[in-house]
Amino acid sequence: MRAITVPEPGGPDALVWAEVPDPEPGPGEVVIDVRASAVNRADLLQRQGNYPPPPGAPAYPGLECSGVIGAVGSEVTGWRVGDQVCALLAGGGYAERVAVPAGQLLPVPAGVDLVDAAALPEVACTVWSNVVDLARLAEGETLLVHGGGSGIGTFAIQLGRTLGATVLATARAAKHGPLRELGAAHTIDYTTTDFVEEVKRVTDGQGADVILDIIGGKYLGPNVAALATGGRLVVIGMQGGRKGELDLGALLAKRGTVAATALRSRPLDQKAAITRGVREQVWPLVEAGSVRPIVDRRVPLREAAQAHRVVEASDHLGKVLLVNEAA
Ligand SMILES: NC(=O)c1ccc[n+]([C@@H]2O[C@H](COP(=O)([O-])OP(=O)(O)OC[C@H]3O[C@@H](n4cnc5c(N)ncnc54)[C@H](OP(=O)(O)O)[C@@H]3O)[C@@H](O)[C@H]2O)c1
Repeated sequence: MRAITVPEPGGPDALVWAEVPDPEPGPGEVVIDVRASAVNRADLLQRQGNYPPPPGAPAYPGLECSGVIGAVGSEVTGWRVGDQVCALLAGGGYAERVAVPAGQLLPVPAGVDLVDAAALPEVACTVWSNVVDLARLAEGETLLVHGGGSGIGTFAIQLGRTLGATVLATARAAKHGPLRELGAAHTIDYTTTDFVEEVKRVTDGQGADVILDIIGGKYLGPNVAALATGGRLVVIGMQGGRKGELDLGALLAKRGTVAATALRSRPLDQKAAITRGVREQVWPLVEAGSVRPIVDRRVPLREAAQAHRVVEASDHLGKVLLVNEAA
């Protein structure tokens, strides 16, 4: 088969379309004939040599895909050759075929196109596991989503609104209109506005009950300041650095919680549990049309370098898909 390989770390042109060995399904795995994959910000880090795949994962980038099951390994029940699926991957999605543990498979939701389904697994599993399973966002609460225009952000806004939360989102001003349409009650231009003051202003001084953060160190202090009493801050990205100062006095006065998680390196049983939770709790919302894949554009898989340039410049809103045109 062919895949996007990274012979030497570097810029977008480090991505090379090349012949590689076909994957075989191990026990408990299936092989998917990939129809589409999607770019995640972590893929940019992997390309630069800063985010190696976890042990046992395919060497090629790609944390999710959609496609058709082409082979089923031993000990797999409930899935058959020919099933249309999408999947959470530890790597290897930028390829014509990929082997994946069956616990990370999801059916393509009714009403969603097979290509667009590649936009869902990573954001659905990340957002649901952090905002719902961990932070327990409840109806009537306020959710602050940093990077509202990202793949993660566009999904979190829709899920938060559908669960009955008031959603606030930070993004550059050009992205505000679409984010309001997705369900953000207030959008904050982080380039011109102090988000802490703005969150306080629109919540009558209360703050946000849950914050989904992708910035990390630089936002740690401000995020704690923006939390409501009993608030939960979940950090899933470090785009603003890995170190920050935590004012424990401010946190304990609010009885607040700070958590941080990474999905890719979690053990298989945890990924399978998250995938099950998404299938049970999120897929019905997708099938009802309340939460949908937000696709900025489709790029041919062999032109992954072009897709990486778009995401690196943050010129996109939602997800950039990589389509295997040979499928
Ligand atoms: N821990 C996990 O398990 C996990 C899983 C998936 C993703 N993530 C993380 O989640 C983040 C989003 O991933 P993605 O693939 O969806 O990313 P993406 O689509 O590439 O989006 C990145 C976003 O960052 C925003 N941004 C940059 N600086 C900002 C700032 N100072 N304040 C607010 N927003 C800012 C950009 O918004 P503007 O264009 O508006 O500037 C852009 O929308 C990444 O950091 C990724 O590593 C973590």
